[in-house]
Amino acid sequence: MAGLIPKDFIQDLIARADVVEVVDSRVRLKKAGRNYQACCPFHNEKSPSFTVAPDKQFYHCFGCGAHGNALDFLMEYDGLEFPDAVEELAAMLGVEVIREQTAGRGGKPVDKQQQADDYALMEDCAKFFAAQLRSHPDKARVIDYLKGRGLSGQTVKDFDIGYAPEAWDTVMKQFGKGRDAESQLLALKMITENDRGRRYDFFRDRIMFPIRDRRGRVVGFGGRVLDKGEPKYLNSPETRIFHKGRELYGFWQVKQAHKHIDSVVLVEGYMDVVALAQHGVTNAVASLGTAATTEHLQLLFRHTPVVICCFDGDRAGRDAAWRALENALPLLKDGVDMRFLFLPDGQDPDSLVQEQGKAGFEAQLEQAKALTDYFFEHLLDNIDISSDAGKSTLVGKAKPLIGQVASEFYRDLMMNRLAQILGRDPSQLQQLVPAPAKTAVKRDQSQGPKMTPMLRAMGLLVQYPYLGKTVDVHEELVDLGMEGAKVFVALHQQCHTHSLTTAQLLEQWRDTRFAESLNRLALWQHGVLEENIEKEFAETFLFLIDSYLEQRLQKLQSMNPAQLDRTHLSEMDRLLKLLKRR
Ligand code: UTP
Ligand code: MN
Repeated sequence: MAGLIPKDFIQDLIARADVVEVVDSRVRLKKAGRNYQACCPFHNEKSPSFTVAPDKQFYHCFGCGAHGNALDFLMEYDGLEFPDAVEELAAMLGVEVIREQTAGRGGKPVDKQQQADDYALMEDCAKFFAAQLRSHPDKARVIDYLKGRGLSGQTVKDFDIGYAPEAWDTVMKQFGKGRDAESQLLALKMITENDRGRRYDFFRDRIMFPIRDRRGRVVGFGGRVLDKGEPKYLNSPETRIFHKGRELYGFWQVKQAHKHIDSVVLVEGYMDVVALAQHGVTNAVASLGTAATTEHLQLLFRHTPVVICCFDGDRAGRDAAWRALENALPLLKDGVDMRFLFLPDGQDPDSLVQEQGKAGFEAQLEQAKALTDYFFEHLLDNIDISSDAGKSTLVGKAKPLIGQVASEFYRDLMMNRLAQILGRDPSQLQQLVPAPAKTAVKRDQSQGPKMTPMLRAMGLLVQYPYLGKTVDVHEELVDLGMEGAKVFVALHQQCHTHSLTTAQLLEQWRDTRFAESLNRLALWQHGVLEENIEKEFAETFLFLIDSYLEQRLQKLQSMNPAQLDRTHLSEMDRLLKLLKRR
C-alpha cells in the first residue's frame, strides 16, 4: 500500500534513530571528544573533517559542506529518494512504515502505488517459484539438479531459489487474472507477447534466481536451464523497476550478513555468488551478465573499501575485468583498493570453492593482483615497448586513464610505475599527465551571510533547541520588523513545547522554503564557548525584545497625539520604564 508517509511518523523515526549508528553502518566512525569523525564519504580527503554530533543528531563535513540528519545521510549515501530513505531507516529500526490512504487517481501517488504493487507482484512471483520446488510434479528432477550442483536446502532458501515450470502459462494463470494484472505482468516482463499478440510466460522450465535490489525488493530474475539449452541464463529485461546497470546479485544478502563489509568479491555468475555463500564466503556479488558499471562500483565503494574482482581467465573474464577497472578509475580515492584475481582455465569461483572450501578460496584471493600491477600488465600485453613507438603508445594509452584517477596517491603510484617501465625519471612524466579537474567541492556553507541578531538567535536555537525552554515564547515578536521574525517565533514555539534535537527540529522544516537557511544556521560556527551558550542566547533574545519594545515605542511616539488614548499612553509609560531598566 503506497501513500504519503505521515509527518508524525517521520518525526518519530528521527527521534528514535541514532545518526551515529546510521552513519557508522556505512562509514566507520571514530570517537573524537563528544563527537564522532571519519574521512568524508562525500569527497576525497586524507584527514577526517566529517563529524557526527550525537547530541544534535546531525552530521557535517567541514571540507565539502555535506550535512544533515539520519535521513539526509541515507539519501545522500545510499542514493535514495526521500520516501525510500524513510523506508530504509524504518527497516534499520525494525518498524513498519505507516502510510496515509491516498485518493489513488492523478499525480504521484498513483506511481507510488504502482511501484509498490510491482514490488509486491515480483515478491509473489519469487515465492511462487520457490513453492514449485516443493509442490510441482517435476520437482524431483529440479531438486536433483540443484543437489548435483552441490546446493544445500538452506542455501536454496537463503537465496529464494525457485523453479519456473515447463509450461506456457503458469505465471499467466497464477497472476494474470484480469486485463490490469496481465499488463502489469507484461510490463514487468514476467510474460511476453509474440508478433501475433499471444501472451505467454517469459521463464519456462528454468531454475529461478530472484534479483533483489539494495533494499531487498525483488526487481527481476535470472533463470538457468536445467540441462543444456540456449541461452544458459535468461535474465529479466530492463523494466520500470529493474535496471541492470544498477543492481548487483547478492548485494542484499551481503548487507544482511555484515554490518561492516571489509571487502567485496565481485564475481561473474549467479552460481558463483550462491556457492561462495554456502561455503561461508558471504561477501560475493555478481553483476548481471554485463560488465560492472561505474554505478555498480560506486555502490560497492560506498559500502566497502576493498573490491576484489574474481573473474575467469578466459577472454570474456579479462574483458570484464578491464572494463571494471576503467569504470573504477574515477572512484579511486585514498583508502579504497581494488584487486584482480584471474582463475585458471575451466575454473570459476563456484567450482573452486566446492573443491577447496573457504580457506582454499581465500588463499587464492590473497594472490589477487594489485590494481597498478594489473593495469600495466594489461597495457603491456598488447604493446611492445622495446621501440620508441611502443613507448609512446604506452604513454598515450596510460596517460588519459591515469588522469581520471581521483586519488593523488594512486596517480603518483601509477606515474612512478610508468616512469620505471619506460626507464625515465618520474618528474619528466609528470607534466604529461594533468591532474583531473577538481570535482567541484562544495563551499563550506557555514560561512554564510552576515549574522544579524535575529539570525544569531535562530542559529543558537537550531543548534541547541533546549534553549527554547529557557525563556518564554513572545509571540508579539512576529511583528518585529526584522527578517526571519516569524520563523524565529515558530522555531521558538517548537523548541519551547517539545524536547527536540537539531535533527528533529530541522526535519519539521524539510521541504519548506526556509529549510536551506535553517540548515545553514545549523552549520554556523558561532564561536561561543559551550558554557556561555545559555547566556549568549538569553542576551540575544533580550536584544530582540528590546528592539521590539523600541519599535513599538517609536510607533506610538510618531502617532498623532490626538489619536493616543489612555491605553496608548499607559503602554508608552510601561515601555519607557522597561527600556530604562535595561
Ligand atoms: P557463465 O557462462 O560463466 O556461467 O556465465 P556460470 O555462472 O558459471 O553458470 P553455471 O555455473 O554454468 O551455472 C556467467 C554469468 O553470465 C551471465 C549470467 O549472469 C551468468 O551467471 N550469463 C551467462 C547470461 O546472462 N546469459 C547466458 O546465457 C550466460
Ligand atoms: Mn559456473
